[in-house]
Amino acid sequence: MLAATTLGPAVSGFIAMLMLAGTMAACRAEELPGVAASGFAFKGSGLCVKCHRTEQGEWCDVATTTVWRHDAHSRSHLALLPDNPRTRAMEHALGIKAAETVSCVACHTHPAAEPPPEEEDDVVHAGISCETCHGAGAGYFEPHMEKRWRFLSVAEKGVLGMRDLRDPVLKAENCLSCHLGDVASGRVISHAMYAAGHPPLPAFEMETFSRAMGPHWKRVWEKAPRVQAAAAAAGYHTEAASETHRALVGTLVALRSSATLVQDYARLAAEPGDRPQAPWPELALYDCQACHHDLRIPSGRQAAGYGRLVPGRPTIARWPRAAAGVALAVAGQPDDVEALLSPWVAVLNRRPFGADADLEPGAPESLERIDAAIRALQAVRRDDGLDDRRREIAERLSAAGLRCGDIDSARLVAWIMLGAMEGNAAWPAEARDAVAANLARDAAIGVPRPPAEAAALPPFWQTSLEAAANANLETLRSAFRLPPAAQGSGR
Ligand code: HEC
Ligand code: HEC
Ligand code: HEC
Ligand code: HEC
Ligand code: HEC
Repeated sequence: MLAATTLGPAVSGFIAMLMLAGTMAACRAEELPGVAASGFAFKGSGLCVKCHRTEQGEWCDVATTTVWRHDAHSRSHLALLPDNPRTRAMEHALGIKAAETVSCVACHTHPAAEPPPEEEDDVVHAGISCETCHGAGAGYFEPHMEKRWRFLSVAEKGVLGMRDLRDPVLKAENCLSCHLGDVASGRVISHAMYAAGHPPLPAFEMETFSRAMGPHWKRVWEKAPRVQAAAAAAGYHTEAASETHRALVGTLVALRSSATLVQDYARLAAEPGDRPQAPWPELALYDCQACHHDLRIPSGRQAAGYGRLVPGRPTIARWPRAAAGVALAVAGQPDDVEALLSPWVAVLNRRPFGADADLEPGAPESLERIDAAIRALQAVRRDDGLDDRRREIAERLSAAGLRCGDIDSARLVAWIMLGAMEGNAAWPAEARDAVAANLARDAAIGVPRPPAEAAALPPFWQTSLEAAANANLETLRSAFRLPPAAQGSGR
C-alpha cells in the first residue's frame, strides 16, 4: 500500500498524451480515458448527490452536499474559462484553450468519462467531483451502502475501487496528486504554466487545508458513542490519534511525493518510443527558490548550507523537509532528512536536474524508512496522553521553526504547530493566539483565521509571494518561540 508509484503501460500511454499537452499541442479533454486506473467505470456525481444530500445514518451523519456547495473544488472548472482574467492571460501566453488542454483538465475538473448530472442545480457540475477523490464508483457503489462496508480494511475497499480517504496516507496522496503533482495521473504543472501566470502552488498541509476546504466528514471520535464503540470493537484501524499526528503523516507523504515526482517524471522523459518526449528538464518540479532569489554574498543559503548537494544546484522541493524531520523524530527515528534524501541528491549531483539514464530504481531504503515512520505515527492511539504528545510535538516544531531557512518550510511548520497548540490544555487559547499573531506579523506566513475575519482577507496560503520576497528570516524565526506551557495543566 505504501509503495512508490509505479507506472503501468496503460498509464504511461495516458501520460504520453498528457505530455503532449505539456508541450501545448492541442489535445482535447474528451480524450481522457473513460475508466479510472482502478479499472472501474464512473457512476457520476449526480447519483452520489441523490443520497448524500442528507445524512446517511449515524456513520455518515453529515449532509455532504451542503458542505460541498461551498467547497472550491465543486467549481474548480470555472478557473479554466476565459472570463477569468488570469486564465485569459495564460491562454494568450501559452497559445492554448485551457478547457481543452488535458493537463489543466486533469487537475481542475472531474474525469471526462463521468456521466453528466441530470439536474443542473445538483451542485456538482464539472468541478472536481465525488469520484475524482473517492475513486470511480462502479465497483463499490452497491456494496458501500451496507453497514458491513465501514469495517472493511483499506485494502478491501481499494479492491472495489474506493480510496479510503479516512486513511491519512491515501488522503494525503490524493490531495497532493493535484496540490503538488503526480505523474501517474497526468497531474503535472509545468514551469511554462507558472511563467504564464498560474499561481504558485503553496506548501500543502493536509489538516489545515482540509479545514480550509470545508470538511464534509466527521472523525470517528466525533461520531456517536455507539458508533465509536462499534468501530473499536471491529478493530477499525485507519485513523491516527490526532489531527497533529495526521498532519505529520501528511508531511512525510509530501516528502516522499516530492522526491518520487522528479524520479517518475525523469523515467517518463527517458522512455523510448515514437511519441514526443516529455520536455526535460521540467523546472517546476524543483525548488522554486533555488533559482528565484536575490544574488547575494554572503547569503542566507550559504549560511544554511547545501547539505549533501553540490552548491548551487537546483534541488527538489524544499518545503516538506523541516516538518518531516519533526515527524521522523516523533516517530522515534533519526531526524536527518538530508541523509534520507541522499539517494536522490546523488542523482542531482551527478548531473544538474538529475538524469533519466542515471536514475536508480527508487531509493528502497529511504522509502522504507519513511513508511516505517508513517506506520509508527499511525499506531498512536487516542488516549489520555494525547495532550502531552501534542505538547512535545509543538515544542519540536518550535525548535524546527527557529532554524527554518525559507518561508515555505516555515509556513508548513507554523500551520502544524498552531494545530498542535489548538485545544491543548497545556496552552490557553490566548497563548496560541499570541503565537499566531507573531507568525502573521509581517504576512510572510499566512495563518488561518476565524471565518468572520477570513472573509475580508486574501486566503492565508496565498499571501506568500510578495511577503516571501520581503521576509526577514531573523524576525520570522523569532516568532516560533512558544510561551511557557501552563504548569500542571488540567487534564
Ligand atoms: C442509495 C444511496 C447512496 C448512494 C447513491 C451513494 N451512497 Fe455513499 N453511502 C450511503 C450510505 C447509506 C452510506 C453509509 C454506510 C454505513 O452506514 O456504513 C454511505 C457511505 C459512503 C462513504 C463512507 C464510506 C466509508 O467507508 O466510511 C463514502 C465515501 C461514500 N458513501 C461515497 C459515495 C460516492 C462517491 C457515491 C457516488 C458514486 C455514493 N456514495 C453514492 C448511501 C449512498
Ligand atoms: C498539478 C495540478 C494543476 C494543474 C496541472 C493546473 N492547475 Fe490550476 N490550480 C491548481 C491548484 C491546486 C490551484 C489552487 C491554488 C491555490 O489557491 O492554492 C490552481 C489555481 C488555478 C487558478 C487560480 C484560481 C482562480 O479561480 O482564479 C487558475 C486560473 C488556474 N489554476 C488555471 C489553470 C490552467 C489554465 C491550467 C492549465 C494551463 C492549470 N490551472 C493547470 C492545480 C493545477
Ligand atoms: C477533494 C476531494 C474530495 C471530494 C471531491 C469529495 N470528497 Fe468526500 N471525503 C474526502 C475526504 C478526504 C474524506 C475523509 C476525510 C477524513 O476522514 O480525514 C471524505 C469523506 C467523505 C464521506 C464520509 C463522511 C463521514 O462523516 O464519515 C462521505 C460520505 C463522502 N466523503 C462523500 C462525498 C460525496 C458524496 C462527494 C461528492 C458530492 C464527495 N465526498 C467529494 C474528500 C473528498
Ligand atoms: C483533482 C485535483 C485536486 C484534488 C484531488 C484536491 N484538490 Fe484541492 N484544489 C484543486 C484545485 C484545482 C483548486 C483550485 C480551485 C479554484 O480556485 O478554482 C483547489 C483548491 C483547494 C483549496 C482552496 C480552496 C479555496 O477556497 O480557494 C483547498 C483548501 C484545497 N483545495 C484543499 C484540498 C484538500 C484538503 C484535498 C484532499 C482532501 C484536495 N484539495 C484535493 C485541485 C484538487
Ligand atoms: C532551474 C531554475 C528554475 C527553477 C527551479 C524555477 N524557475 Fe521559474 N524561471 C526560471 C527562469 C530562468 C525564468 C525566466 C526568467 C526571465 O525571463 O527573466 C523563470 C521565470 C519564472 C516566472 C515568470 C516571471 C519571472 O519572474 O520571470 C515565474 C512566475 C516562475 N518562473 C515561477 C516559478 C515557480 C513557481 C517555480 C517552482 C515551482 C519555478 N519558477 C522554478 C528558472 C527557474
